[in-house]
Amino acid sequence: MDEDIRKDMIKTYRLEFGKSPEVVTSAPGRINLIGEHTDYNEGFVLPIAIDRRTYTAAGIRGGKLFIAFSREISKKTSFEIEAGKFERSNFWVNYIKGACSLLSEVKPIEGMNFAIGSTVPRGSGLSSSAAFVVSIIDAVTHLYDIKIKDIEVPILAQRIENEFVGVQSGIMDPFVAKFAREHNALLIDTRSLQYEHVPIPEDCSILVCVTGVKRALATTEYNRRREQCQQAVSALSEKLNKKINSLRDVTVGELKSVENEMDRTLYMRAFHVVTENERVVKTVEALKKDDRNLVGKLMLESHLSLRMSYDVSSPELDAFVEISEQLDGVYGARMTGGGFGGSAICFVDANYENELANEIARKYKDRGYDNGVVFIARTGGGSHIERS
Ligand code: GLA
Repeated sequence: MDEDIRKDMIKTYRLEFGKSPEVVTSAPGRINLIGEHTDYNEGFVLPIAIDRRTYTAAGIRGGKLFIAFSREISKKTSFEIEAGKFERSNFWVNYIKGACSLLSEVKPIEGMNFAIGSTVPRGSGLSSSAAFVVSIIDAVTHLYDIKIKDIEVPILAQRIENEFVGVQSGIMDPFVAKFAREHNALLIDTRSLQYEHVPIPEDCSILVCVTGVKRALATTEYNRRREQCQQAVSALSEKLNKKINSLRDVTVGELKSVENEMDRTLYMRAFHVVTENERVVKTVEALKKDDRNLVGKLMLESHLSLRMSYDVSSPELDAFVEISEQLDGVYGARMTGGGFGGSAICFVDANYENELANEIARKYKDRGYDNGVVFIARTGGGSHIERS
């Protein structure tokens, strides 16, 4: 599928701008195997890039004008650069404006043309926005020969989402979009930004179960969870009488010792984050020992914690997990990404991947959910230049 879109992006660019692009970049969507809502608490995450990507074909046009065409929504938009600053406009263009604005602080840039196409399903919790913004950053830095370190790409991408788009997301999504490697999960310590590639057993597959439910409250609730974690940090600093910068600095034992003195909701939020960090570390150990049943068990524990303690699941996500857990050949299942709809994932025996994908889709539909899609996700590599 991606072979076609890669060629198509060059054609699309020619059609829209009357000449060939100077560069085509791409970056992947992702699922997160485990480590949810930990990245903005300086914790551990274990995402995997998938074989669905966002492509940006771009070229310099000079002057002040920037023109962007989105193949997916068939929309063309233009904007101007004014002393390195842009005005916010509609949602997707803000990512491009953010990238151009922050990069123009590193080196002056002039007008550009962009054509963007993607096979990452949008609004499905598969991080289409990080794939998009990372492919834009790669295109602009390539066109203007802007020298930034690889590690700065996800940092910049996160700033763009936080400052220009208004989602207080963590660093996981752009980080994996930049540093992923095929057949591997990526263990990221979001405090030190050190990372390690962790191989996935060859005969295991990942199924992505897209609920088909738009994540209406996702941004508001997401930002609220971040605030609650901050409040938990303040409460814990006081109750434990020690300096705590983030929930990463708290052990399960310490947390339990002040359970009765803390606001119940804040305690539950912190409990999820602190135990989830432990689950990520255990999952990495289990993968290294090829103990896939343990990986599956930890995934289910993570899901239950997100549902009961963190309160970010939804009936559709719970349905996918319940259905999957009853089938032979499934090691484990859980929601993935921010929650409130979006997608769930199943870690399964590759020998039965097709049967399981069909069976899960059928059972989900039987429960009255008509817009679900289940697909087998192959792993993908990090962002790169496709053609220049
Ligand atoms: C969204 C955010 C990530 C992360 C997850 C939850 O995908 O973009 O930074 O916080 O939610 O783990």
